[in-house]
Amino acid sequence: YSAVNIGLLGFGTVGQGLIEGIRWNKEKLEEQLDEPLIIKKALVRSLEKERYVQGIDLTASPLDILNDPEIDIVVEVMGNEHPTYAYVKQALLSGKHVVTANKLLLAKHGVELEGIARHQGVQLLYEGSVLGGIPILRTIQHGLSGDRVEEIRGILNGTTNYILTQMVESGQSYETALKAAQAAGYAESDPTMDVSGLDTACKLVILCRECFKMNIRIEDVELSGIQDVTLEEIKNKQIEGKVPKLMAQAGIVKSEQPLNDAVKKIEAKVGVEWIGKEDVLSQVTGVDNGLALKTKLVGELFWKGPGAGGLATGGAVLSDVLEVARYVLLSRNQYRSQGQHF
Ligand code: NAP
Ligand code: HSE
Repeated sequence: YSAVNIGLLGFGTVGQGLIEGIRWNKEKLEEQLDEPLIIKKALVRSLEKERYVQGIDLTASPLDILNDPEIDIVVEVMGNEHPTYAYVKQALLSGKHVVTANKLLLAKHGVELEGIARHQGVQLLYEGSVLGGIPILRTIQHGLSGDRVEEIRGILNGTTNYILTQMVESGQSYETALKAAQAAGYAESDPTMDVSGLDTACKLVILCRECFKMNIRIEDVELSGIQDVTLEEIKNKQIEGKVPKLMAQAGIVKSEQPLNDAVKKIEAKVGVEWIGKEDVLSQVTGVDNGLALKTKLVGELFWKGPGAGGLATGGAVLSDVLEVARYVLLSRNQYRSQGQHF
């Protein structure tokens, strides 16, 4: 082979954002890789739909990607649990590396899929699944590898933060703001995922796994959304200097068992909190996400940046694609230097 070949499952907001990122940063990518990145095919539902990014070979058959032995990396940006789970599992089982931004899939099946990836000796990366464009998973995995996270507190959904900000700053109605978030490509295909807090809960499950090295299920998260926030309530609370935020929180609690060691368990919740200016997360407005971590060694940390959108998420997905591409090329070179040839 003389390229790293990629198959895209999905070519919507994030899929097209990824291609824009690759095209805009072509020279930078060429400096980093000895071989070109080639997008061989992208899976879509409708071949007739208008796309703002052109020049990509589209298919309506997943087998064109999953059964193509030349495809090294499958990038899953189609969303939802089904049929995506089956496609991703098949890709991993056939020895392909997978990059995904699908938090629902990862929250529900991440442990199993990571097990398959490890067993197959392939990579499964998902930087785009949490906090959009903020490179938080790498920071936790590498930057905080010697530390211990004790508390997570964050605004993890761009759509709801955009809606609440529009309601606070412009007095816009909930419905108008939601429509604008959908038009901008921030919302999930079913926006109930966003406004009910379920998308935030999925991201919190992934963050708990990364930060605490413990698994929780979506059902373990105490959950409520933003649907009951009204313009009238916002006006009243503004007098007290408070604004609403859909907040995700998690920490480890130890319950002392008589005659036994303490049992550790994660307590996690998602719901609207009314916060004042003294709270660092009040700076997180519009489509931005924010995360405050409390760690044993470093103490208080805070990140803020675009939490949704094609380019921001496409950039995060691209960082994973590059990491896997470097791994693919390194493995090929090692294989060749051992005197073997493809
Ligand atoms: P999207 O705009 O709705 O795009 C989904 C793409 O997948 C479309 O091209 C669609 O085809 C294709 N697709 C969906 N179901 C399919 C099926 N059963 N068979 C074949 N093709 C199918 O979604 P998105 O906003 O790019 O999001 C993609 C993923 O990234 C989701 O997991 C989402 O949660 C995640 N994510 C999104 C953002 C964001 O800001 N949008 C940020 C972070 C993570 P058609 O185009 O023909 O309909
Ligand atoms: N719908 C999600 C959000 C996309 O608004 O945050 C980014 O994960």
